[in-house]
Amino acid sequence: MTIGMIGAGSVAMAFARYLLASGHEVELSNSRGPDTLARQLSELGSRARAVTAAEAASNNVVLLAVPWARIREALSGLPPWDNRILIDATNPYIVGGLENLHGRASSDIVSELAPGAKLVKALNTLVVENFESGATVPGGRRVVFMSGNDHLAKKQFRSLLSPAGFAIVDLGTLQVGGLVQQAGGPLVGPDFAVMT
Ligand SMILES: NC(=O)c1ccc[n+]([C@@H]2O[C@H](COP(=O)([O-])OP(=O)(O)OC[C@H]3O[C@@H](n4cnc5c(N)ncnc54)[C@H](OP(=O)(O)O)[C@@H]3O)[C@@H](O)[C@H]2O)c1
Repeated sequence: MTIGMIGAGSVAMAFARYLLASGHEVELSNSRGPDTLARQLSELGSRARAVTAAEAASNNVVLLAVPWARIREALSGLPPWDNRILIDATNPYIVGGLENLHGRASSDIVSELAPGAKLVKALNTLVVENFESGATVPGGRRVVFMSGNDHLAKKQFRSLLSPAGFAIVDLGTLQVGGLVQQAGGPLVGPDFAVMT
């Protein structure tokens, strides 16, 4: 399948490399337009395309991987979500630290900006280098946390990651799991594994 990417930086490129190696295609976008993504395309090869953010967001599964300060502009002017899946990899870091969300889940804010999307919060806990090291750790499998309110959307996300061997841990809803999973909590940064 083709996965759209809003953002073409470290996280999007790592996920794109992984998806391409798994047989998928990707459509990358940024705020400056497809013409500015030649370097990324030359690295990723012919199953990666550069598109506008609106085109990337038209796919059935879309990754959001932009700096927190840019989420509003990144999610504006997109086609209606119509139940398509949005994987939210963002963390609410701003200059000087974490934004104070007054107890709100950051994905709750992203959901509000992407009405009608089935949101899965995922890929925000792993530093890119760990994700790129792959699913296998000595004696076990690397953990990818996810949360979301839609069972089928989480199943779809799981189907992208588990064939490679990642251990997908479902933390529940965005309101519960999303809060546990977001930056500022204990799960962002450490490299968790399930030992086998
Ligand atoms: N780096 C990590 O290890 C890591 C791990 C987990 C989660 N995260 C989170 O994932 C998100 C992305 O991090 P990153 O490290 O990938 O950042 P990054 O390397 O700075 O890349 C950000 C990307 O977003 C694009 N962008 C900015 N504004 C945009 C807009 N309005 N529309 C479309 N694209 C836009 C940027 O391109 P232009 O500026 O050219 O538009 C760039 O391609 C952040 O929220 C971060 O906290 C990071």
